[in-house]
Amino acid sequence: MALTPDELYRRLPKAELHCHLMGAVPAATFIELAKRNGQPLPSEDPDKVYAFVTFDEFLEVYVAVCDSVRTADDFSRVLYESLVADVDSANLRYREVMFNPSNHPWLPYPDMLDGLLDGARAAQHDRGVVCRLLPSINRQHGTSAAMELVETVLAHPRDEVVGIGMDHNEDLALPELFAEVFEVARERGLNVTTHAGEFGHPERVRTAIEVLGCRRIDHGYGIARDEELMRRASDLGVHFTGTWTVSVDYHGDDPATQPVGHMIRAGLDVSINSDDPTLYGVNMSTEWIDAARTLSLEPDDIVRACLAAVDAAWLDEADRRAMRKSFQAEIDALLVA
Ligand code: HPA
Ligand code: ZN
Repeated sequence: MALTPDELYRRLPKAELHCHLMGAVPAATFIELAKRNGQPLPSEDPDKVYAFVTFDEFLEVYVAVCDSVRTADDFSRVLYESLVADVDSANLRYREVMFNPSNHPWLPYPDMLDGLLDGARAAQHDRGVVCRLLPSINRQHGTSAAMELVETVLAHPRDEVVGIGMDHNEDLALPELFAEVFEVARERGLNVTTHAGEFGHPERVRTAIEVLGCRRIDHGYGIARDEELMRRASDLGVHFTGTWTVSVDYHGDDPATQPVGHMIRAGLDVSINSDDPTLYGVNMSTEWIDAARTLSLEPDDIVRACLAAVDAAWLDEADRRAMRKSFQAEIDALLVA
């Protein structure tokens, strides 16, 4: 008997390119770490502690989670727990996870890396999931801190650190401010991505592509308002790491105006990611299921998004080809199941 679409979406192998570690910390772990540190909590109920409505409130919760993660062991623990949870919920096979070193100024970057690599290795050993790391610029900390982060990343190279990202509130720090930072990063061999156009501004997506030189963009929803820019992004092979729930939060779920649906139907290269899964109470399976249902996407569309993530992963060519082959074999088996 053929799988239902929901079951298919749950069981498909998944590569995720847009996930913030501090947005993936289990609520119970956050409560435990925060209490240990004497941090105030809005609630000790795991179902209520991640409560926010606006983006500013979301970032306040996100920063509180960052405050709770203090030691290398904490980093190891939260990375391990988040990876294992998403192997269980979504058949996660590969994740490039973002973290903001400048949100944890008490821990030197090399110690942070040691903790993260420890958690990643343990998750790979126990559950086969592969994890790569994206130190991410908190754009609200300004351009000097951003340049300092790039220099720090370059001074402590690790095979598992495959590029850098940039996140937090784009209304407060436009992409063009970071032109020099991204130029240094690219010239010295780092892959680069940035959050841009999350709230619908096409010009910020254009700047991310044309000025920052990004060929991968997180969210990017503003592009749906600019047909010419969509053609240009398509010609340049830009990949968009979309998300479902976050896009609905800011753009609604009317299929006629939903940017994720518009981007997929326009043939842009789009993956569907969980972004901040525990903070939003989602995982990749629920994101794919909800997006497909609301946008009337077909299994072919979801399979295309699934493989688009593999193709846009910052892996060595041989590793990416091997992952694509194993994903394709698993997809073929699921489609005849
Ligand atoms: N957008 C911007 N910054 C973020 C996000 C996001 O979705 N998650 C964590 N930091
Ligand atoms: Zn994000």
